[in-house]
Amino acid sequence: MKDILQELENRRDVARKGGGERRIEAQHGKGKLTARERIEILLDEGSFEEFDMFKAHRCTDFGMADQQIPGDGVVTGWGTINGRLVYVFSQDFTVFGGSLSETHAEKIVKIMDMAVQNGAPVIGLNDSGGARIQEGVASLAGYADVFQRNIMASGVVPQISVIMGPCAGGAVYSPAMTDFIFMVRDSSYMFVTGPDVVKTVTNEVVTAEELGGASTHTKKSSVADGAFDNDVEAMDEIRRLFDFLPLSNQSGVPVRPFFDSPDRIEESLDTLIPDNPNQPYDMKELIRKLADEGDFFEIQADHAGNILTGYVRLEGRTVGVVANQPMVLAGVLDIDSSRKAARFVRFCDAFEIPILTLVDVPGFLPGTSQEYGGVIKHGAKLLFAYGEATVPKVTLITRKAYGGAYDVMASKHLRGDFNYAWPTAEIAVMGAKGAVEILYRSELSDPDKIAARTKDYEDRFANPFVAAEKGFIDEVIQPHSTRKRVCRAFASLRGKKLTNPWKKHDNIPL
Ligand code: HXC
Repeated sequence: MKDILQELENRRDVARKGGGERRIEAQHGKGKLTARERIEILLDEGSFEEFDMFKAHRCTDFGMADQQIPGDGVVTGWGTINGRLVYVFSQDFTVFGGSLSETHAEKIVKIMDMAVQNGAPVIGLNDSGGARIQEGVASLAGYADVFQRNIMASGVVPQISVIMGPCAGGAVYSPAMTDFIFMVRDSSYMFVTGPDVVKTVTNEVVTAEELGGASTHTKKSSVADGAFDNDVEAMDEIRRLFDFLPLSNQSGVPVRPFFDSPDRIEESLDTLIPDNPNQPYDMKELIRKLADEGDFFEIQADHAGNILTGYVRLEGRTVGVVANQPMVLAGVLDIDSSRKAARFVRFCDAFEIPILTLVDVPGFLPGTSQEYGGVIKHGAKLLFAYGEATVPKVTLITRKAYGGAYDVMASKHLRGDFNYAWPTAEIAVMGAKGAVEILYRSELSDPDKIAARTKDYEDRFANPFVAAEKGFIDEVIQPHSTRKRVCRAFASLRGKKLTNPWKKHDNIPL
């Protein structure tokens, strides 16, 4: 009997070693942890329950029959993060470069199906050379099975991808269909085809880092939502993000104990808006001062900085924040910021996360590069996303809300529940200077007349009261009492029920 028990332990030891000591050393030599070490940091201590530790591939081509490594290059199972259920797969680069075989795919599919059935998120730790070359179409079929699961799980349970090594082909298309992608700086890459293929096909010479490193994907392409310095920081930050997210579209937002009074008065907010309307200020200061304990988890921090997106808690409950950032391009809406915010709003709506919108926007960015790039369609994404969202929506205009951007930014007209403004708000079709130049073109040669016209326009529109008179602003509030007002607003909306007309699905301008 003892021998039989020992046999299990021996088999487990072999499986835990993956591709063997030499390859584990190579993995560590690149500053990377192994698949199992990553899971250990990601999950609560001792909570991981593994599936399919001994599952083996069925390939016999290219001498593969003699190369059997139990587990077949991916560690799968479930565990908890701060006590909340999560399903995990972690690819093992020491086994055939983490490449995906038919059986490797079956293991991922199994935990994805369980995640959907049990209403818990999936976290994928990706470290894979893509489809296992020796298996040919069987591995392509395996990828397609994973893709189909990604699509079916979208909007049902949150899916988080962490790219933790060189990922190519299918290893990037599956993450691309998940809700969040994070990368590790200097050790992770994402590309459809690597630098060698690029050279052959287009004659471009490019390094892996330039083509698909963390900087490329967090700043330029916006494929990734954030990057971390190393594997340990990545796992810690994913735990932090996870704490903000609902387990599923049915679970509601998580509720945590909080140690920050909802009535907290912030006198400093009374002087946040500079006297000069063209001077920027940091919208992040407002977000942090509103949030429980100042905790803000930012999404896409390095891309389209003119809009901020991320999560805070108010009275212990997660709220998604979208905010124009006057520090970058005066907070203007453009192609990148519209796309970034639209995707964020849709995730919040899909998972019943209430949305707080902080508005200081001078309008849409004019110009040929924007028009040729399709700003009409991209801007419409944000408009559409806000308009279709049925979650509680609280909006605060701190300063400018000009033109179409006023409508877009969760206005009353797009079913905003509470639309607040500070006394410093300016709600108009455009700024005074631009308006006067159009309305009084014939007087442009007379600076005194123009100055008087500008003052007239400012007196009429550079305030929130015209909109408040019409009921488009529910209340003009004191900046120092904003946290209290916003907390009370969201508290009153906890029972909100709003449904859109039945449809198969909408046709958002993609
Ligand atoms: C089988 C693979 C593999 C793969 C790597 N290996 N990729 N085995 N199938 N796809 C093996 C290597 O043979 C090697 O085995 C070990 O993993 C480590 O690989 P190295 O090349 O030594 O590592 P490194 O230099 O770090 O380079 C990593 C890499 C490179 C950039 C990922 O291996 C690579 O370019 N691989 C191929 C990528 C690719 O083209 N994949 C197919 C994509 S098509 P040993 O025994 O030496 O340790 C695809 C289709 C899906 O995915 C379609 C979706 C739409």
